[in-house]
Amino acid sequence: KKKVILDCDPGHDDAIAIFLAAGSDAIDLLAITTVSGNARIEYTTRNALVACELAELDDVPVAAGASEPLVREQVISVDIHGTSGMDGPDVRPPKKQAIEHHAVDYLIDTIHREKEKVTLVATGPLTNVAQAIKKDRSIVEKLEEIVIMGGGSFGNKTPAAEFNIYVDAEAAKVVFESGAKLTMVGLDLTHQALAQDREIVAIENIDGEVATFTVELLKFFRSTYLDVFEIDGGPIHDACCIAYCINPEVFTTKHLHVDIEVKAEHTYGMTVIDYHHVLEKEPNAHVAMELNQDIFWDMLYSSLRNLNK
Ligand code: BDR
Ligand code: CA
Repeated sequence: KKKVILDCDPGHDDAIAIFLAAGSDAIDLLAITTVSGNARIEYTTRNALVACELAELDDVPVAAGASEPLVREQVISVDIHGTSGMDGPDVRPPKKQAIEHHAVDYLIDTIHREKEKVTLVATGPLTNVAQAIKKDRSIVEKLEEIVIMGGGSFGNKTPAAEFNIYVDAEAAKVVFESGAKLTMVGLDLTHQALAQDREIVAIENIDGEVATFTVELLKFFRSTYLDVFEIDGGPIHDACCIAYCINPEVFTTKHLHVDIEVKAEHTYGMTVIDYHHVLEKEPNAHVAMELNQDIFWDMLYSSLRNLNK
């Protein structure tokens, strides 16, 4: 089993990433840490607890983390995820509570505690991850890799920048320059994982509370993507990272050099991907290229079936 920590900001697609991990035999989910992003930290933490409870992840600790980016003002994503960060389904207040530790300390402790190397999956802004690296750089050697949902060759928050990187580009710069093995799952990849009618119907046909909740999430997410971007289908961005942990064959990658823009007016938060090795710099990221949609959707359906109650 792969030892995984998920740092996230649920988030419709973050919640689905949690379900995908929870229903898979290939993943040992060590902890979930939360960061502000899609919504304020109180909401993203509550949403993570709700998702854990639904998926019966009783033994997985949830630790709340950064309430704002390293340098910039907080930006949240009301237009896509609603004010709660997970609008759509009816959400009951969770019984499960976050642990007392701060996410940054808990990340460091958990990574050191494990004998095996840990895979850190980051599906929100990179604030916690950057802070953990800055606080204790020795975690980098203890990580198998960091799988990041972020960036791409186009943007969704600005024409150049993807939301997670845009929200805390200074943090992203720390992580991309850390020397850790990185897999970057950007919009070029995640827009190949669109939940359209066919996929939503397939999930509707799965019994159980988690599948029903997922359908509600997908319907809301699909409608905001249509309103805001005129895209027919909700890209299940964050679940692509977990899918890769379960089976790396779910997408192809290219080892490339990626810089994070932190100064420019129009392109702040852009991932500048050197596809053609123009800079002749050492590659620092395995950039996700092509998704095998059959593998991806089968994995999600199978996890949801396993979580069937
Ligand atoms: C990313 O931003 C959020 O809206 C999603 O949860 C995903 O992590 C996509 O740009
Ligand atoms: Ca997210």
